[in-house]
Amino acid sequence: AHHYENILLERPADGVGQITLNRPKALNALSTPLFKELNDALQKLDEDPSVRAILIAGSERAFAAGADIKEMKDLTFSKAYSSNFIQPWSTTITNLNKPTIAAVSGYALGGGCELAMMADIMYCTADAKFGQPEIKLGVIPGAGGSQRLTRAVGKSKAMEIILTGKTFSGKEAEIWGLASRTFTGFDELMKGATDTAITIASYSMLAIKAAKEVVNQSQELALSEGVKYERRVFHALFGSQDQKIGMDAFANKKTDIKWTN
Ligand code: CAA
Repeated sequence: AHHYENILLERPADGVGQITLNRPKALNALSTPLFKELNDALQKLDEDPSVRAILIAGSERAFAAGADIKEMKDLTFSKAYSSNFIQPWSTTITNLNKPTIAAVSGYALGGGCELAMMADIMYCTADAKFGQPEIKLGVIPGAGGSQRLTRAVGKSKAMEIILTGKTFSGKEAEIWGLASRTFTGFDELMKGATDTAITIASYSMLAIKAAKEVVNQSQELALSEGVKYERRVFHALFGSQDQKIGMDAFANKKTDIKWTN
């Protein structure tokens, strides 16, 4: 058993690990202790062979209202620079082998929006409130917001969001491609996210890992390099048992597939 104070660790279904941010009084503001626990739990789920997909959720009212402003307000340049403030937020989550789904309801502001954008898949409620309001605090996004938001929605929209600090809805996030699906309420959101995690968990983890890796490379590489990278990984999967199992099942009309990974 793990003793976490700022998060909950659950198993909503076979093969699915769920981390729920749980600082309700601070609208899940992302403090250093919260992030340490989040990273610890993510690492444990990634290493646990019984977990095949990971959900990251908040409450109905708030996914996360951003970095903890009260913790940050007296930070100095030298402290921020020497500790590489916020850098550890993204290193664990973006280097996991297993797929992550962020389920966003309520506020996803600043670091909350940035955390949701670090997940492999983002689902949200139609009335979720996203934004990068750092400009109102005299700073800018610091957990990848200016980069991930711009890649997802394009330069003009990202500039508008980051320069005005105005919020946008879950519906808008879906229309712009930042979120892949919206749901009418919190329960529907959690069910939808869990169902998707169950679907992913039913496939070969080797193929899932490879698929996640090549999609992520599309964010880093030029098209021709990315296509070549994909093809190399595709070729490599013909060395796996799961490729034989999957294609044999199709050819022999078998439905009950037992993957080796
Ligand atoms: N940090 C610390 N505490 C926070 C917080 C945050 N980001 N967001 C909310 N809280 C706290 C409030 O201070 C309040 O605590 P008290 O009861 O002790 O006063 C409690 O959570 C409830 O919040 P409100 O009373 O403000 O609730 P509301 O419903 O009136 O407003 C809100 C909700 C619009 C989300 C408002 O809380 C808000 O604007 N929060 C700050 C959002 C923000 O600026 N986020 C960006 C942070 S900077 C960042 O994230 C940097 C980065 O890039 C990593």
